[in-house]
Amino acid sequence: MKYALISDIHANLPALEAVLEHLGAQPDVAATYHLGDLVGYAPWPNETVALIRGAKIAGVAGNYDSTVGSGYKHCGCRYEDARQEELSHLSYSWTRERVSPETRAYLAGLPFRIDLSPGGGHISGPRVILVHGTPTLNTLYWTEDRSDEFALKMAGLAGAKPGDVIAFGHTHLPWHREVGGIHFVNTGSVGRPKDGDWRAGYVLLDAGSGPVQVKNVRVEYDVDRAMRGIRDSELPDDFAAYLRSGGQAAVSGTSAR
Ligand SMILES: [Fe+2]
Repeated sequence: MKYALISDIHANLPALEAVLEHLGAQPDVAATYHLGDLVGYAPWPNETVALIRGAKIAGVAGNYDSTVGSGYKHCGCRYEDARQEELSHLSYSWTRERVSPETRAYLAGLPFRIDLSPGGGHISGPRVILVHGTPTLNTLYWTEDRSDEFALKMAGLAGAKPGDVIAFGHTHLPWHREVGGIHFVNTGSVGRPKDGDWRAGYVLLDAGSGPVQVKNVRVEYDVDRAMRGIRDSELPDDFAAYLRSGGQAAVSGTSAR
């Protein structure tokens, strides 16, 4: 069973449109799921949510989704200096002020986790567990350098067994590791990659029969349109340079996610 996993779109409508067009040309993809963070940092939160809903793409709540949805005091994002903190708050307040009641209700209603049974739930077989950050919190960053012990602890808390897959996003950096027979897949980011490659990123996951296969896909999109949209809005222009550089711009070193 082949799944497409798209995460951290962050209101980047041009990037999402390009990814969905790319997926439309792949008939062997059985289903597409989003792993959260639909909004924040770019000027199309309502349009992004409308497109996801219109395409009937189910998914889980990212930290941005659950904090905007619940009206929390901040987005649960990490920042490393005062400028990053300022940018983070600007993005969050801009987004909170502009999401429609309908968008907010949708974000608030997203589940924390989705479990898939590629072989069907009528037989025991591998599970694919979808979350945003970790199985415990959507704000916790699961970077590739975390220990095997951390991975196995999370797998235990999630109830994962050898052969299962736990997929997540949140760090905007794609990676795949296997620990104790369990696959850990970070899908990277559609709308705000941070690995130096500006192109939209997503994952094709083959699971259920045979070995688990993970393919990182990158898609070119109209990044100039996304940058114009940011600059024409009241969002900080820093976010436009950030997109173009794939998260490497010296935009006050922002790494807010
Ligand atoms: Fe994110």
